[in-house]
Amino acid sequence: MPRAAVGVVVALLWCAALIGGGAGAGQDLAADTAALLAFRDAVGPRLPWASSSSSPCGWRGVRCEAGGGRVVALQLPGAKLVGRVPTGTVGNLTALRTLSLRSNALSGGIPADIGNCGELRALYLQGNQLAGEVPEGFFSLLLLQRLDLSRNRITGSISPEFNKLRRLATLYLENNGLNGTLPADLDLPKLQLFNVSNNDQLTGAVPASLAGKPASAFSGTGLCGGPLSPCTNTSPPSPSPSPSPPIPPPPAASQDSKSSKLSGGAIAGIAVGAAAALLVALAVIVLLCFKRGRRKEGRPADVDEDASPVSVTVARTDKVEVKRSRSRPSQQTTTASGAKKLVFVGGEPDVPYDLDTLLHASAEVLGKGWLGTTYRATLEGGAAVVAVKRLREAPIAEREFRDSVAELAALRHENLAPLRAYFYSRDEKLLVSDFVGAGALSSLLHGGGGAVRRARLGFTSRARIALAAARGVAFIHGAGSSHGNIKSSNIVVNRTHDGAYVTDHGLAQLLGAAVPLKRVTGYRAPEVSDLRRASREADVYSFGVVLLEMLTGRPPANAVPGFDGVDLPQWVRAVVQEEWTAEVFDASIADEAHAEEEMMRLLKLAVECTEQRPERRPTMAEVAARIEHIVDTVIRNADVDDFDSVSQ
Ligand SMILES: *[C@@H]1O[C@H](CO)[C@@H](O)[C@H](O)[C@H]1NC(C)=O
Ligand SMILES: *[C@@H]1O[C@H](CO)[C@@H](O)[C@H](O)[C@H]1NC(C)=O
Ligand SMILES: *[C@@H]1O[C@H](CO)[C@@H](O)[C@H](O)[C@H]1NC(C)=O
Repeated sequence: MPRAAVGVVVALLWCAALIGGGAGAGQDLAADTAALLAFRDAVGPRLPWASSSSSPCGWRGVRCEAGGGRVVALQLPGAKLVGRVPTGTVGNLTALRTLSLRSNALSGGIPADIGNCGELRALYLQGNQLAGEVPEGFFSLLLLQRLDLSRNRITGSISPEFNKLRRLATLYLENNGLNGTLPADLDLPKLQLFNVSNNDQLTGAVPASLAGKPASAFSGTGLCGGPLSPCTNTSPPSPSPSPSPPIPPPPAASQDSKSSKLSGGAIAGIAVGAAAALLVALAVIVLLCFKRGRRKEGRPADVDEDASPVSVTVARTDKVEVKRSRSRPSQQTTTASGAKKLVFVGGEPDVPYDLDTLLHASAEVLGKGWLGTTYRATLEGGAAVVAVKRLREAPIAEREFRDSVAELAALRHENLAPLRAYFYSRDEKLLVSDFVGAGALSSLLHGGGGAVRRARLGFTSRARIALAAARGVAFIHGAGSSHGNIKSSNIVVNRTHDGAYVTDHGLAQLLGAAVPLKRVTGYRAPEVSDLRRASREADVYSFGVVLLEMLTGRPPANAVPGFDGVDLPQWVRAVVQEEWTAEVFDASIADEAHAEEEMMRLLKLAVECTEQRPERRPTMAEVAARIEHIVDTVIRNADVDDFDSVSQ
């Protein structure tokens, strides 16, 4: 179709939208009220909307223009709406800019008159049972920026008319029943977030404009090309035989996409990749042998995320999932440096233990990171439970190590895990601290991490954990120091999920030189180029990323193994750039309507913390004070109102 013609159509529709939106506001608010009441009668009989009050502007989930103008937002996530949304309801709210009806039980189709809502910027209908095709009038929503129709039963093909939605930045269509091919000329200049995975009847090639999207955006489909295996011209792409898989919880999802079926054409791609991988592997083996030969040692040369844990034996555990270590470094450590001893900092423990006790304790891996591997060790006879950090190898002199550790140990605060002892030899460096808390925040949020399960953490818990962590970090800053490696796996949450301890402070500065920057995850502030010089401002940035992670439930880039992750600060800014909507929040807290304002305040704080320019970020003391205020408010409001607090 000629471009000029499209332009004219677009311009006409645009005018229509403007004229429609501009008509007498006072009168239209009455029409909006009638439409809302019809909506309530059809799908939301339990909505606490008082038909007696003249204005709908104070109703739950309804937002009006300033000064009591027309209804501009209808947001009812998880509000137990059921059934078909009739025409003449939502479609009559023609000034609407944001519509969120996600996580309900809406069925039938997308309302056929949705196209009347020409002011709509954000449309969130995910997590319902909407069926049928995307209605024709839909493509007159020319201002649409965010569209999420995922997790419904929408069928039909993906229309080339999507090209009309020039402002679209988010297009989420995953977990539906879409079929056919993707329009070859699909090209949305503003598109940032795209997903069509788990539409198993989609076939054909990924359009050129989407070739740069991650493969997981297309998993569980019959698509080929782009980030997927190349299309074979002769045979049609293999249709996926399995019905669409049940929706897994987020952490499992990425593994799911990884193991998803590969079409026949994949083999060529894999062969090339495998050849490259083989070369790399060979190089690594040669290097390892060389290193080993020189050092005459029989254990892995390096500790990193992938190295096998070797530090302590596992004799007994009381947890279900435990990683067993295979070999013991104790021989080497004790023979080569028999004179070395465990050094206690700040006094001997009540029940003394030595290196040998430590190395024979029953232990489990708590986590691995670029600074080393952490174990939970239960000393013989249950004398004590300690956390042992086996540091990655780094060329560091004993004196420097000792002085630094003494400094770290001097920092005592109720939100810091107390450091008790260290061990230093040329090849082995251990730090022993009290074992505190129940599990790392990262494990509670995303699962994984040994014995800790993903837990349902309400917003109040999250805010309290954030407060405790902020206080810990603020204390470090107050002492003139910086943490250097703030991330959710370095925040240990207590058993009651209302407090936390910050761990691993100062270690990045101690070992940072030996770590390539690109190995460090999405928590790193943009200005940090030397890990040993992590500033307080950089800590604030990292802390902001943790806050975003707690609010959105998403891990930042490269933070959780096997999970793509996103650049969280960038992602959140992209989603909230137009309006501050609640759509960024983790599904398991988003329904806590009583806390929405506080969530929004914490989100704004997190965004400030992750400002690109260090001098614009708040100080940690200010962050702690602001979170304290949020916690106070949310606790005060908690029991006032429990509508919408559906547990999922
Ligand atoms: C929606 O608008 C149409 C056309 O203006 C009108 O006939 C209908 O009554 C409205 N529906 C409601 C529920 O007010
Ligand atoms: C896609 O599904 C619709 C009904 O849902 C059907 O009418 C159409 O023929 C299907 N198209 C293809 C290419 O399979
Ligand atoms: C697409 O959605 C699937 C299923 O929800 C998810 O596993 C995958 O990570 C998503 N990918 C992207 C790039 O959003």
